[in-house]
Parts: sequence; structure tokens; C-alpha cells
Amino acid sequence: MHTGFARKALRKVLSASALGALVLGAATVAQAAPAPTPVEVAIDAAKPGDVIDRNIFGQFAEHLGSGIYDGIWVGKDSPIPNVRGIRSDVVAALKAIKVPNVRWPGGCFADEYHWRDGIGPADKRRVQINTNWGSVPESNAFGTDEFMDFAQQVGADPYISVNVGSGTPAEAAAWVEYMTAEKGSTYANERVANGHVAPYRVPLLGIGNENWGCGGAMSPDHYVEEMKRFTNFIRNFNPAQRETDKMKRIAVGWDSNKLDYTEQVMKAWKDHVYSWDIEGISLHNYTVDGWPPHLQATGFGVDEYARIIKDTYRMDDLINRQTAVMDKYDPEKKIFLAVDEWGAWLAPTPGTNPGFLMQQNSQRDAVLAAINLNIFARHADRVKVANIAQMINVLQAMIFTKGPQMVLTPTYHVYHMYVPFQNARVVPIRLDGGEYVHGDVRLPRLDAIAARDAQGQLWLSVVNVDPETPTRVRLGNFKTASGQVLTAAKVDTVNTFEAPNAVTPRAITGKAAGGAVVLDLPARSVTVVKLN
Ligand code: AHR
Repeated sequence: MHTGFARKALRKVLSASALGALVLGAATVAQAAPAPTPVEVAIDAAKPGDVIDRNIFGQFAEHLGSGIYDGIWVGKDSPIPNVRGIRSDVVAALKAIKVPNVRWPGGCFADEYHWRDGIGPADKRRVQINTNWGSVPESNAFGTDEFMDFAQQVGADPYISVNVGSGTPAEAAAWVEYMTAEKGSTYANERVANGHVAPYRVPLLGIGNENWGCGGAMSPDHYVEEMKRFTNFIRNFNPAQRETDKMKRIAVGWDSNKLDYTEQVMKAWKDHVYSWDIEGISLHNYTVDGWPPHLQATGFGVDEYARIIKDTYRMDDLINRQTAVMDKYDPEKKIFLAVDEWGAWLAPTPGTNPGFLMQQNSQRDAVLAAINLNIFARHADRVKVANIAQMINVLQAMIFTKGPQMVLTPTYHVYHMYVPFQNARVVPIRLDGGEYVHGDVRLPRLDAIAARDAQGQLWLSVVNVDPETPTRVRLGNFKTASGQVLTAAKVDTVNTFEAPNAVTPRAITGKAAGGAVVLDLPARSVTVVKLN
């Protein structure tokens, strides 16, 4: 849905189908008949706009709980099928969703990470305490070379976060030299001795993480001074990244509900001198409905569904507020916004270590993911990078692992369905689906984007936000619509190791109807179709 339209929709009075939803009451397994009057969808296919940068489909993998160990790294001697210690089932699943980039090693962990602890012979690596996440031992068995191997196996770009909080510019510069320099310097030779002759590509570099909080509780002014020193002294030596494919440096923004980091960083950037620069600024926002995270991941109903979906729409507002500040200093949009941590943060799974941030993932998470991806696409002019937190076993994950088992979450399926939107151009879309109203929560009933891919194919994604009532949309000027729809018996239906396909996409085809095509969208669903 067009952003302006979304607001308009929120103001609208109850539509006939919304009244139907209220009469129906709580979410039901059986789906009622579609609303008789289809919602008209108008797509202006002749007016392609900004490119939806594929990096908005990025992932985040922190040394946290079983996100890395078990989730990615099982070790070379594991009976679990692996390539050089990296589990093959996970790599295959991530390749299928064409992960564009993976942010690593944190998060809060990044500002306590010292790269030298994670290179060289495994038995000589420092065992540290993961102070942020459960105070458990961190073996450093998965370090720089293992992460780069993982990224290469998946086909994703590395997005490295350097340690600003407890590290130095010299340490960060040495790390980037280790990764990117050709054989010859001491650090590069060390990488070669560790078995990696060719320099690595480092296309994305985070200059710290939440330095207003776990990254050192720095004032905005202090952070800006650090940011200048770090970007001044860190150099990417990879010859392939000298002229083109240059490394993009992402500064910390958005101080947990305040704009002063964004303001100070952008102000400094506007007057920056030749010796330092940045290309992006970050925004972190979790859908959490208040701290500490308390919303249940399973066993909830329509009340909690509506509350969390309402909370997730704050993302649009936060991006608007952040970009308003950026526009002041950078009207030409040279600096991009990286929403490099986002997702649902729910109460931890009972019986698990609360420091491991494990939570189930339901059809509600699928709807939430699609809404956020649509918001990023509508802000394609500024939002060029986004990283859902976190890739495996942590927060709103794509994948759960347990020993040799692996299960794909509803959120994973959304990412799979959205692959055609990677680097496609947004095209204007208008539709008026009315509102879904539950208590004092009012939500747009439908949330949609359309885009044209490089081959000229037009794609449509429509989220039926309404958890209770199916709806029908009518696409004028199109003959066919076919693709996949993801819905589930209930808003809290999840995939488990015992029932891994409770939420799985199925084929959907539109019906021709007098020079148009109509699509029946189940309640609480995400639908992606190609249009002809
Ligand atoms: O994703 C979990 C944590 O949330 C990250 O480590 C931190 O950056 C954020 O506060």
C-alpha cells in the first residue's frame, strides 16, 4: 500500500468487511467466504521508481545463544553433514533465499570482540566469557576465516561490525587489513598462513553498534569523534574494491528513541574533511510492545496479534523521522539508512536460557516480516540495507536447529517468497482495503507493494493483515496472477521439529474475471504473485 494511502486507510470508517470481522470474533480455523465486493488494486506499471536494494533482505548473526554454535558451526568432526565445520543443511536453506549479506559478529558482542582471539589454530584461541548473552564460555572457534567461509558458501556479502566500544582504531584497521590486503604485509601474511591466500571482500563495515548503549554508553559527541578516527584509519586494501565495489561504512544512529545520534552524525558528515567519510547510518528497532519483552510467541490470540502488528507499523514512523533529519543535511540522499537490526522480540521460550533469546516463530511473525519488508520497499530511496534479527535460533529467526534437525520458520518462507523483489524497481500501487479494527487497534486491512524485476516481470505482494476474514482483490488490466500464499490455521501456528510444515506456502492462481483477474486472499496471509 502506498504510504500516504496507509495513513488514509487508518482514518477511514469501518468497511463492510471489517464489520464482518468483528461479528466473527476470535480467530477461527475455518475461513469465512470472501467479501463479496473485491478491493480494486491499481498498479501503474509504466512508472517504475527506486530499486529495492537486495541488501534489505540481509541477515544478522551474532555470537548469541545457539545462533552461531549449533546454528552454523558444528565443527569439522561433527556427524552432522558439514563443509569445513559449517552445517550444509543451513547453507542450502540460506542459499535458497539468496541472502544478500550477513551482519557479524554483533550486536552488543561486537563491541567486546577482539578479532585476534578468533584466528589461527582452534586450540590456541582465547576462551572468553560472553558477558552480554548468558555469561557462557565463547570458544572463538568460529572466527573471521570461518565467517568468511560461511558467507562464501551461502553466497552472501560479509557485513562486519568493528569494535568501537572497547577496541581502538588501530585494532579495527589491523582487522580490515588482515581481511583485505594482498600477501605482503604482516597481517595479510598471517591470513595466508591461516590458509586464505586471496584477500576477502568487505563491502559493508559497521562502525560500532549501539554505542549509545551496550557499545560504551557514549554521548553523541563522543561517538562522532570516535567515528571520525575509526573511518580515518580503517582502510580496505582489496584491489578489487579500490575503484568500484567500494566498502560502505555505516555509522550508528537512532539512540533508542532519540534522534541525537542521527543529528550529530549527519551534521558532522555534512562538514567532513577529506580524511574520513561514511556512506550509511543505522537504525535499530524491535517490535516488542514495551520492555522487557513480554509478548508470548505461542498460545496467543487476536488481541496480542493486533497489538504487535500495530507496534510493528511504528517502523514507518521511525524511518520517516530518521530520514527527515538526514534530508536536512543530505538532500541528495548520498547517505543511506541501514535498518540493521529489526524484528519481533518476544518473551523467551519457557525453559530456555533467557540470555539466549530463543523464541518460537508463528504465522504472526510471517505477517510482521512482510509488513516490514513492504515498509522498507516503500522507502527504497533511503533504506538500502536491513538485517532481521537474527538469522538462526535467536529472536525472529529464519531457521531453528536442534542437533542434526533443522526446521524453517514462517518468516523464512516470507523471505523465500520475496526473492523476486531483490533489486526490482518499485511501481506505484493503490488499493483501499479499509481497516481491521480490534478494540482500540486500527490497522490497514491490506498492505501491498508491486515491483518490476530486471527481466521486466511485474510482481505483487499483498498482506491480508486481518487475522479473521479473507478478502478478494481485483487487478484490472491483468490476465493472470500466479504465485504462492502463506497462511496458517491460526495466528499462532508454528513449525516445530515434529511438525515442520504446519506453516508452508502453497500455490495460488487468480481467476480471470472480465478483463481483470481476482485473487482470494485468506485471512492472516502473505501472497506473492507474478502478474501478466
Ligand atoms: O539482537 C540482540 C541485541 O539487540 C543486539 O546485540 C543489540 O545490538 C541490540 O540491542
